[in-house]
Amino acid sequence: MKKKHTTTTIKRAKGGEPLVMITAYDALFAKLFEESADMLLVGDSLNMSFAGKKDTVSATLDQMIYHTNAVCNGAKESFVICDMPFGTYSTKEEALSNAIRVYQESDADAIKIEGGVQKSEIIKHLTSNGIAVCGHIGLLPQAVRGEGGYKVKGKNKEEISTLLKDAEAVEDAGAFCMVIEGVKAEVATEIAQSVSIPVIGIGAGNGVDGQVLVFSDMLGLFEEFTPKFVKKYLDGASMVKQALSSYASEVKKRSFPAQEHTY
Ligand code: KIV
Repeated sequence: MKKKHTTTTIKRAKGGEPLVMITAYDALFAKLFEESADMLLVGDSLNMSFAGKKDTVSATLDQMIYHTNAVCNGAKESFVICDMPFGTYSTKEEALSNAIRVYQESDADAIKIEGGVQKSEIIKHLTSNGIAVCGHIGLLPQAVRGEGGYKVKGKNKEEISTLLKDAEAVEDAGAFCMVIEGVKAEVATEIAQSVSIPVIGIGAGNGVDGQVLVFSDMLGLFEEFTPKFVKKYLDGASMVKQALSSYASEVKKRSFPAQEHTY
């Protein structure tokens, strides 16, 4: 069994073999992912793929803590990050008391918050109070309603300069790693090279220090649409539907349960 990561081993991974991060929302999948993933992210994307909501914005802290507990219960040897939902880290005080709630009510190893320069004072307050913080820069899903959609970042000089400043601010504030989302590949590579902590990409190309995907996307369970950056490693939706259809037909024919499934 591989050894559980710490913030120290994650930081040390910079410049080496890319880190593997995947979202998990429950004990069952967390256990299945444990062997291959370096970090499990209880992303607020669960509000969409688990709860069926239109975006991540309405996720609550209670919801995140509930799912973080499930993931920690299922994958005791994994480094687990709890995503702080929208509106739970607007001020330093609020961020710290909510992060403490996550630590007290779950076994999360770290929390993640979205935002660069604008959130750097908050990140600094958290890290100086013993909270391990994973940053998140670039496309920020929690800003979707404010920005009027999901916009790829790093398309012009101004955006590149903003991203570089965001990455520097997150690092200086004491984060142990950061996610970079929806950024032109060459810009994400430049950003990864500009900081000394691992930069984990999603929709940010191959030149960063690791990758993260939403598990229901990469297992092909989510059918509505497939973002360009997603690779489906399994045709999960078809396989599940096929299995259910076989079960249903056997129930209807009374060929299930057979003798071997009967007491
Ligand atoms: O909520 C989430 O799953 C995330 C990933 C997209 C990085 O923040």
